[in-house]
Amino acid sequence: MTQLDVRVLIGSLRSASYNRKLFDASHELVPEGISLTEIPIWELPHYNQEIQQDPTPVVERFWEAIRESDAMLFITPEYNYSIPGVLKNAIDWASRPAGSSPIYGKPGAFFGASGGRSGTMRMQLHMRQVLPCLNMPLLLKPEVFIPNVADAFDDEGNLVDDRLKGQLIEFYEAFEQLIRLQRS
Ligand SMILES: Cc1cc2nc3c(=O)[nH]c(=O)nc-3n(C[C@H](O)[C@H](O)[C@H](O)COP(=O)(O)O)c2cc1C
Repeated sequence: MTQLDVRVLIGSLRSASYNRKLFDASHELVPEGISLTEIPIWELPHYNQEIQQDPTPVVERFWEAIRESDAMLFITPEYNYSIPGVLKNAIDWASRPAGSSPIYGKPGAFFGASGGRSGTMRMQLHMRQVLPCLNMPLLLKPEVFIPNVADAFDDEGNLVDDRLKGQLIEFYEAFEQLIRLQRS
């Protein structure tokens, strides 16, 4: 069975990010057929069509990393009821050049954790609005909303919420099925 190379964009830049911790924990939760690799977004400039026409090495590397992927995963908090600006900026970069965008048509999935009660539900609704613009076949179920995220980890930063681990295992199994279906 072909190994699936899933590249990950994380929507929080802080080093102690819970969403980053969920990415770290995910390596042990994904099926054997999936590998997860982060594509850094913190080096990207603010999107500017003039830079796009004469792209910097950072932008070229970003496009190449997406082009190499079999699918894209977004793990992100909700900021002000929506997608964090740094992640939207990365999605805007990924969407260009129009006509040969590296992300266009790639299978995609997203989930997220927040400190609040909604568990990124409103952010996820906005992802469902934005990503179809890139013609991405999306994993729509199961949905994973993670509220009060600090409670899911112990003091050493280990994911200790077994119910959440189970949800993520199901999420990744369904994502693998979606990716393989798209390739068949
Ligand atoms: C600018 C900003 C906006 C935020 N807006 C929301 C929000 O709309 N909904 C929510 O549940 N949490 C919101 N939060 C709280 C985040 O969910 C919380 O800080 C979370 O831990 C961020 O994810 P991270 O740990 O991966 O950095 C916001 C935080 C920041 C810094």
